[in-house]
Amino acid sequence: MAKRIIRFGVIGCGLMGKEFASAAARWCHLTGVDFEPRIVAVCDANPEAARWFQDNVPSVLKAYTDYRELLADPDVEAVYCAVPHNLHESIYLDIIRAGKHLLGEKPFGIDRAANEAILEAIRSHPGVVVRSSSEFPFYPGAQQIVQWVNEGRFGRIIEVEAGFWHSSDLDPTKPINWKRRIATNGEYGCMGDLGLHVLHLPLRFGWKPASVRALLTKIVEQRPDGRGGMAPCETWDNAILACDVKTEDQAFPMLLSTKRIAPGHANTWFIRIQGTAFSAEFTTKNPKQVASLPYTPGGSQAWHVVDAPYRSAYGTITGGIFEFGFSDSILQMWAAFCDEIVHGAEGMAQPFRNALPEEAAGSHRLFTAALESQRTGGTVAVDWEGLH
Ligand SMILES: NC(=O)c1ccc[n+]([C@@H]2O[C@H](COP(=O)([O-])OP(=O)(O)OC[C@H]3O[C@@H](n4cnc5c(N)ncnc54)[C@H](O)[C@@H]3O)[C@@H](O)[C@H]2O)c1
Repeated sequence: MAKRIIRFGVIGCGLMGKEFASAAARWCHLTGVDFEPRIVAVCDANPEAARWFQDNVPSVLKAYTDYRELLADPDVEAVYCAVPHNLHESIYLDIIRAGKHLLGEKPFGIDRAANEAILEAIRSHPGVVVRSSSEFPFYPGAQQIVQWVNEGRFGRIIEVEAGFWHSSDLDPTKPINWKRRIATNGEYGCMGDLGLHVLHLPLRFGWKPASVRALLTKIVEQRPDGRGGMAPCETWDNAILACDVKTEDQAFPMLLSTKRIAPGHANTWFIRIQGTAFSAEFTTKNPKQVASLPYTPGGSQAWHVVDAPYRSAYGTITGGIFEFGFSDSILQMWAAFCDEIVHGAEGMAQPFRNALPEEAAGSHRLFTAALESQRTGGTVAVDWEGLH
């Protein structure tokens, strides 16, 4: 099959920049796709970070230290940007204004004002496809839950719980990095860092929190600064958000949590939905399994736990009997982004789109209200004005 090659530039060659390079290098894993990304240029303020790409990605012809040079490069038609949150606004604005498609990392701006500036630029450049990274909904178990929600299986929803839990910051000897500083990560702390992952599906389902009561905690107060001293950790480690969801025909509680310090959890993303007719759960802690409980009045209440087959949004060479993992979810997310660039939202090979800028904006509305709830100790209405 002749493939449409999409020529990418990568801005930010750290942890996530390399994940994209690895997904692009493994494109032959996908079957039946008529598009393929090719990373032709990279940019990192630190030339050492870009060197990994030059050593490992043969298609990379140019490495820049100033992203404006990458944006001026006519060979680059789309950009993946994975830089600290304080840089999202200025760099995303320049990417969009340069007319390049953008898969940007969450949270899409360090705060609500930055996010609104990004949204405004997107509105002024409707020909540019802009999406936010959020890979976990591409796990087959999560896709199964999406299908059940779309089929309206749950009946009246009783309660929803979704979260993303890490324990990488439990170790107090771990040196400080940009994610622990307000200037680079933002006042949202763990919410900005992990929150869109948790909100992507609820917002896609139309479950907007009308109000929130937030409990935000700082657990490790200082960390080694790498120069023999200690530096204060300024950002929230953990967040529990009790939300009150109101849809056109339902109202139910939704508990969202993002935790940097959750002992025993490495990268646990989960969603649990309880309904009067059907309940379901998926967690990346047991990535093969998806659980469901159909219920008819007076009937028995039995959980069915099945090993979800490797049935991804985009077909792969992997047999259904094998396991799906994190790097597979990244590959699927990239396939959805490239598909949307080439075929448009209506022509995609499968219907699940990457996180929309409006969904990222929704997360900012919730986190802004959550910060106020933490300050006041009260329940705060979420402002959805102007966001549909
Ligand atoms: N989707 C996910 O699962 C996931 C996971 C981790 C991080 N992230 C997100 O990815 C983004 C980056 O996080 P990371 O963990 O890759 O960080 P990182 O620190 O590993 O990498 C960031 C890179 O950006 C570079 N950089 C800094 N300023 C720059 C500039 N002006 N121009 C070009 N490059 C510059 C740094 O030198 C560094 O190499 C953040 O938005 C973060 O929230 C997403």
